[in-house]
Amino acid sequence: MDNNTKKKLSILMVCLGNICRSPLAEGIMKQKLHAAGILGKVDSAGTGNWHIGSSPHPDSQKVAKLNGINISDQRARQLQPTDFIHYDLIVFMDRENKKDGKKIAGIYWQENKARLLLDSIPNSNLQDVPDPYFGGWDGYPKVYQLIEEACEGLVEELSAFESR
Ligand code: 4NP
Repeated sequence: MDNNTKKKLSILMVCLGNICRSPLAEGIMKQKLHAAGILGKVDSAGTGNWHIGSSPHPDSQKVAKLNGINISDQRARQLQPTDFIHYDLIVFMDRENKKDGKKIAGIYWQENKARLLLDSIPNSNLQDVPDPYFGGWDGYPKVYQLIEEACEGLVEELSAFESR
């Protein structure tokens, strides 16, 4: 199938506030999909409602910028039950986010669309991207690295799928 007729893969990255981790995952994944030549739509959302309409946290913007990614145009939104209709994959930053996402989704929950981001790091037992919100700047480069490694793995999984 050529790129004009191929369905665009859609991915939603989810954390708690949608201002620290999932905006990074959105920005990194967009860049990696583009670099891999995979057509895709990537968005992010939070399970919480505190930061709806806010820009990403200044430290997330800063670490992204240091790595050549601009996430400043993103605005936080809350996960909606119908996101499970509209997205192919809903990728949670930690197990708590997944549990909360399941409650929000209710009857719209689809286990086959839901996954943990860190499941995409090969040969790793890590499951949760640590929440850097309550710590200082130091947490952000570490979180960036972890998200980047997982997005790399996810793109590889998707590339293998696309080329079948
Ligand atoms: P995030 O971090 O889930 O990575 O966006 C958080 C941001 C805000 C809050 C918690 C976590 N908060 O409680 O406001």
